[in-house]
Amino acid sequence: MNKKWWKEAVVYQVYPRSFKDSNGDGIGDLRGVIEKIDHLDRLGVDAVWLNPVYQSPNDDNGYDISDYRAIMDDFGTMDDLEELMELLHERDIKLIMDLVLNHSSDEHQWFKESRKSKDNPYRDYYIWKDGKNGGPPNNWKSFFGGSTWKYDEQTEQYYLHLFSPKQPDLNWENQKVREEIYDMINWWLKKGVDGFRLDVINLISKDQSFPDGSDDLAGHEYFANGPRVHEFVQEMAENTYNNYDAMTVGETPFVDKDEALKFVKEERQEFSMVIPFNHLEFDRKEGWNKITDWDLTELKTLMSEWQYLLQKNNGWTSLYFCNHDQPRIVSRYGDDGQYRKESAKMLGTMLHTLRGTPFIYQGEEIGMTNISFDSLSDFDDIETRGYIKDLQEKGEMSEEEILEIANYRTRDNARTPMHWDNSKYAGFSDAEPWLKMNSNYREVNVQKDLKSADSVFEYYQKMITLRKKYPVFAYGKYDILLENDQQIYAYQRHGEENNLLILLNFSRDEAHFDLSAELEIEEAELILNNYQKEAEFELKGNLRAYEARVYLY
Ligand code: NOJ
Repeated sequence: MNKKWWKEAVVYQVYPRSFKDSNGDGIGDLRGVIEKIDHLDRLGVDAVWLNPVYQSPNDDNGYDISDYRAIMDDFGTMDDLEELMELLHERDIKLIMDLVLNHSSDEHQWFKESRKSKDNPYRDYYIWKDGKNGGPPNNWKSFFGGSTWKYDEQTEQYYLHLFSPKQPDLNWENQKVREEIYDMINWWLKKGVDGFRLDVINLISKDQSFPDGSDDLAGHEYFANGPRVHEFVQEMAENTYNNYDAMTVGETPFVDKDEALKFVKEERQEFSMVIPFNHLEFDRKEGWNKITDWDLTELKTLMSEWQYLLQKNNGWTSLYFCNHDQPRIVSRYGDDGQYRKESAKMLGTMLHTLRGTPFIYQGEEIGMTNISFDSLSDFDDIETRGYIKDLQEKGEMSEEEILEIANYRTRDNARTPMHWDNSKYAGFSDAEPWLKMNSNYREVNVQKDLKSADSVFEYYQKMITLRKKYPVFAYGKYDILLENDQQIYAYQRHGEENNLLILLNFSRDEAHFDLSAELEIEEAELILNNYQKEAEFELKGNLRAYEARVYLY
């Protein structure tokens, strides 16, 4: 097993718009992140992933970039970014930038040129097609609802946008586009950034015959993991980040584990790791139509298969539950009421004890929960607005049903401002924030956690410290136990010097376990437990509601 800094690291994701506002305009910014470096340092994280901070008209909160080498006015200046990087580096914290390479903004200079005429030198930087039978070139559906094609009157053709119409897809078949992208990546590497998260990177190669997709797949069988995706990624890697000691994490929707392995098998030199999605789809099997009950054994099987495949084939993964696109995990797989703290800690334990690199999303370290909006007009997220519109047009659900699903699924859940203290606007800003605050900020905030001995924050600190102390957390081999248990996720990690035994109760009921026939362990030290009255070492016993135990032996 090759050792790498990013295998041992814990990454913290900052969504700058909602982290800390330094200039009183209700929008978080880079100087706000600078103000809060102490928080990151105190938590003990090794790297910060910043969501896009580049110049952007903000149709999709920065995922629509109009200049890859400039900073969005809302967020500050390039000097602010450089200062942030320096200050992070002084504390041995790496900086990971977000690269959005599948699409740009329609306000990017390249697209402004491209749309001018069919023979403009930038025309082929994007994907333009004639319509078919008076409609778009095919039936592909956008991630944000509606068709993926937008008709442009000026040249009477359609352009492809897998996301919003303000996010035209770049044409990776065009070598000039690829070279421009590599130049830009190298420009950032030379500046000193330590790695990248690559947005929807497995969508960059489209089937060039652009066939109609099937109804359930909406075309993604032709644009996800397309024919040249690995060729493109390898070319990019060779020409850019593989010449540095950089960490790369590819966001890859619609990958199964075998496809994902191709991206992360060390010998293939594509990415350090990917961001898989399958473990976050159990409660949304029916998409935007229903909130589904789910079964722990399915989650365990999925995690296990992925863990075994990676360790057998020399691959690595990110470990995450929350990010700016995912509703808060305590409100999904945990309990955001009575057992908020216990379940937040238990879920965190899973992320920090599997084999891979844990990612913490801002607020997860204090157990922040989903928000509940009262009205459909409160939603800001472009994806949610698109789905609300689709559901209203279908006319099969009442407004209340749509509101319930939207509240459960919306990305706004993750994007409400960070809770620093119990003052007005939770110490996030002096002005009214760009998005509603979660009303529980007086109960759930950093200041309160710092004062209390059994806080979620303190537990996270402890996990991170343990991870640094014992290499088995990063490198140990994974082995599942109690495979069919419906309440408990149990596994071991086997390292060179130590082993870990991890027991996680995913339910609000007491859960009985008996490992005495399977394991022979005489003595073990309980190094982590989310209850104040700590448990003894035992191979047979009961776990309390959402209890997590980690034993070292
Ligand atoms: C994935 C990003 O995480 C999400 O926020 C964004 O809307 C899409 N990619 C499009 O860039």
